[in-house]
Amino acid sequence: MPWRTSIRRFSWIAILSAIGLLTGCAEQDAVKEKPVPLTIESTPYGQLPSGEAVTLYTLRNGTGMEIGVIDYGAILTSVKVPDSKGGLADVVLGFDSLDGYLGTQPYMGATVGRYANRIAKGKFTLNGKTHSLAVNNGANALHGGIKGFDKRMWSAIARNSEVGPSVELTYVSADGEEGYPGKLTTVVTYTLGNDNDIRIHYAATTDADTVLNLTNHSYFNLAGAGKGTILDHMVTIQADRFTPVDSGLIPTGELRSVAGTPFDFRTPTAIGGRIDETGDEQIKLGGGYDHNFVLNDGNGQLRLAAKAREPVSGRVMEVFTDQPGMQFYTGNFLNGSVTGKEGIRYGKRFGFCMETQHFPDSPNKPEFPSVVLKPGETFESTTVYKFSTDGNK
Ligand code: GLA
Repeated sequence: MPWRTSIRRFSWIAILSAIGLLTGCAEQDAVKEKPVPLTIESTPYGQLPSGEAVTLYTLRNGTGMEIGVIDYGAILTSVKVPDSKGGLADVVLGFDSLDGYLGTQPYMGATVGRYANRIAKGKFTLNGKTHSLAVNNGANALHGGIKGFDKRMWSAIARNSEVGPSVELTYVSADGEEGYPGKLTTVVTYTLGNDNDIRIHYAATTDADTVLNLTNHSYFNLAGAGKGTILDHMVTIQADRFTPVDSGLIPTGELRSVAGTPFDFRTPTAIGGRIDETGDEQIKLGGGYDHNFVLNDGNGQLRLAAKAREPVSGRVMEVFTDQPGMQFYTGNFLNGSVTGKEGIRYGKRFGFCMETQHFPDSPNKPEFPSVVLKPGETFESTTVYKFSTDGNK
């Protein structure tokens, strides 16, 4: 729907209150350029220890869905979607305030980079030069290092696009940051469409050859954040193969058929159905599912990668991506040590992640799709999380 049409739905009182809530220079500039985007509200969300102000952007579409995004970590803080009776629930794990996101937390809602997932021993060789990264996960590098993109301030511009309200976040990562070569500029844009779809667009450019792998690390529970485990969700993953791992969760290099294994999600299957099959070596190594699936039709087009359905609420989420892989992680490391929204402690398997991505450790696996970005090229990728209900209830 064109933004002008959606604007008509709102009263001028809403316009004025939205203007009153807008903060930040980037935001002010956007306001000057065009009329205030009525479906976006920006509110102060606290301060970093450095004193930098963090802003929460609340995007609402014309069909009653709402998401929250902050400029710290380009984090998706909330996703409020209706169930089959129209009742709203927030379906992503997270925190009620900035403090939770600043504490030790397992990447809830975060934009992960430069390299999502693991790089073996925190080393890779590019153009004959070996680069050493911060090692922060056993012997390996995980999720961009000690201070990855999830812990950086991004500069935000909120605007309405043809598709819906949107917030564009930019982060410039210096050459050598966390050991990665090249100055990398990354732009992540969240757009909320009227089909109850969250479109996450990634774009990145570099001034020297580098590697990158960008994802979103939201933990979903379609019954609502904090409402127990996700074991009853029925999941489908469009993947005939997955990448088995070693004891450090580094892919061995094999692309293994899912047939006859607990990794076969080609037809809807409960997450909990086979998750404790300790007789399966890969389930044992992951402590459940913590594996990259090799998505079918991997020639770069946006296609359905996965679907999850929660039987009681009737909520359904479909994941679309143009990336070759998806990490399906079932919150195996959650252990009640993190207290999230509404003071609820998140226990083991209280959320699942569907992290669209290139394969883990690709910089050391020339047989995997390339993750190299060169000056003059633009890395572009889109992931869509689309919500609906199946009416069963
Ligand atoms: C990813 C990894 C997991 C774990 C989580 C964060 O999904 O694959 O092993 O590190 O992030 O806790």
